[in-house]
Amino acid sequence: MLMTSAIKKLFGYESTDPYVYLVSTKSGDKINGQIAVDVIGFTFLKDWPRAAIFIGKDKFTHDLIMESGVFALNLLSVKQMELVRSFGMRSGKNIDKFEGVEHIKSKTGSPIIKNCVGYADFKVIEKLDLGDHTMFYGLAVDNKLLTDETPLRISYFKKSAPKEWLIELDKTTKESLEKSKKFFDEYAKRKKFHAVIIKTASTRF
Ligand SMILES: Cc1cc2nc3c(=O)[nH]c(=O)nc-3n(C[C@H](O)[C@H](O)[C@H](O)COP(=O)(O)O)c2cc1C
Repeated sequence: MLMTSAIKKLFGYESTDPYVYLVSTKSGDKINGQIAVDVIGFTFLKDWPRAAIFIGKDKFTHDLIMESGVFALNLLSVKQMELVRSFGMRSGKNIDKFEGVEHIKSKTGSPIIKNCVGYADFKVIEKLDLGDHTMFYGLAVDNKLLTDETPLRISYFKKSAPKEWLIELDKTTKESLEKSKKFFDEYAKRKKFHAVIIKTASTRF
């Protein structure tokens, strides 16, 4: 209990309220996308905007970014909450999540959602194996604001989404955690370190 609140506080999870992005990508003639909040933008060198995204190894989006080395960040608006459900709680491995969703192609070929707040288009310049996730570090090749809608933040989503969606999110997150544990365990063995288990909150939300 103590550890749970300590980690949440130390990592700032009690106070941060991240934007909700739809990370889109393509490889060959396949396109896909997923929801992500673990996104860090780097703008210190303002003419070379970069971003790091943290994508679980069990995601189809992960496989496609690995193959193509491109992705786009679509910043969703508060009017696009249903996309969090359709892109963030089911995998594109067996379905086309973009069917019926209006989109255009970015410079790199990643799909851009119509009426999102804006987007940035990236080429991966570095990737880092984090065990259960890969960090893709991208350099922006294009960016544009599309609407002046209010960006969607996670707290707004949790406050406003129908209860069934939150139950579904809890279920899919638990399934993903199980897969992630396996990836992290294999990684620990490969790296020959002993992964100490401490009890913390499973997610930041
Ligand atoms: C609000 C929210 C935030 C999420 N953040 C991340 C994230 O930062 N990284 C990640 O890998 N998955 C994240 N997910 C989970 C993926 O979006 C989800 O597992 C998705 O179904 C993967 O789709 P895919 O297999 O088609 O790539 C998030 C989901 C939601 C609903």
